[in-house]
Amino acid sequence: MNILGVESSCDETGVALVECHASGVPTLRAQALHSQIDMHQAYGGVVPELASRDHIRRVVPLTRHVLSAVGASIEDVDVVAFTRGPGLAGALLVGAGVACALGAARGIPVMGVHHLEGHLLSPFLCADPPEFPFVALLVSGGHTQLMRVDDVGSYELLGETIDDAAGEAFDKSAKLMGLGYPGGPELARLAEFGDPTVFDLPRPLLHSGTLDFSFAGLKTAVRTHMLKLGSNVCEQDKAHLAAATQQAIVDVLVRKTLAALKATGLKRVVVAGGVGANARLRERLDAECAKRGTRVHYPELALCTDNGAMIALAAAMRLQRGIDQPQRDYAFNVLPRWPLATV
Ligand code: KG4
Ligand code: ZN
Repeated sequence: MNILGVESSCDETGVALVECHASGVPTLRAQALHSQIDMHQAYGGVVPELASRDHIRRVVPLTRHVLSAVGASIEDVDVVAFTRGPGLAGALLVGAGVACALGAARGIPVMGVHHLEGHLLSPFLCADPPEFPFVALLVSGGHTQLMRVDDVGSYELLGETIDDAAGEAFDKSAKLMGLGYPGGPELARLAEFGDPTVFDLPRPLLHSGTLDFSFAGLKTAVRTHMLKLGSNVCEQDKAHLAAATQQAIVDVLVRKTLAALKATGLKRVVVAGGVGANARLRERLDAECAKRGTRVHYPELALCTDNGAMIALAAAMRLQRGIDQPQRDYAFNVLPRWPLATV
């Protein structure tokens, strides 16, 4: 069975074709992605209206590209999966609208998928996929959550951010330092030239006894340091501040993940979402988990950030287990706010 996945929840249009077998992990046949980063860079962040318009321009050509890459046509697609939420309403409507129009025109069933479930399952497309159960650390631009995952569709929220997400903390701190958008990779690059001990930054809720996160105070502290450094701040001080910011975020993420492992007694971690591409986070988490005999799984680097493959994969894994049935009712809706634990 071939599943076409369409992702359009934020600033990346992703389309992919995944083959779903009766059992075993589905396989990725082809994927294509268009990032809107260049378009939003001038504004220092995502402009929702521009994002929607660009998804409209990209989604059909990307679909053609994916199908032709494997010599397939729309007739070879058995299910069209799309991101139903969470995300930007207008952006989600584009992917949902195109997926349902394709389905209706060709009589192919459609399926709405949770974006974070896509992220969470994305390591299953690796050569060495994880086994259930595991603790999932979901760290994207809009979400920071620790989940207990017992199987596909069995998600228990252990803790989440009470204000900014980890990716948002990277992005907002980078913006305060005058770096480009998205800030995470830019800040991480600059941090390589800095000493993380030069500036002392807060680690909110580190000792709260809960698995919740808070990153808003970190951004305020970065702002205060930048104001003190003044308008002609040198590159070296900026690099020190970037290193300290990255260290503070990574520190909190690692320590809370270890606390989640202890609380659940689980021995496996899956890290997913854009911040999962951060090299320091991977390094620290790998080292700490290795000491405890715990295995950490990540998606392939190219699948850390938004993509269509994870949407097709999540649909495939839900269908394999009979959790969902694809729909031939093409009256779609989108869910810009949609808690993963309710899926
Ligand atoms: O999962 P994602 O692509 O989109 C959302 O669903 O939000 O995550 C995007 C986030 C952005 O905040 C970006 O700055 C961050 O992931 N990010 C990183 C890195 N690569 C992407 N943060 C830190 N280090 C990175 N290497
Ligand atoms: Zn995402």
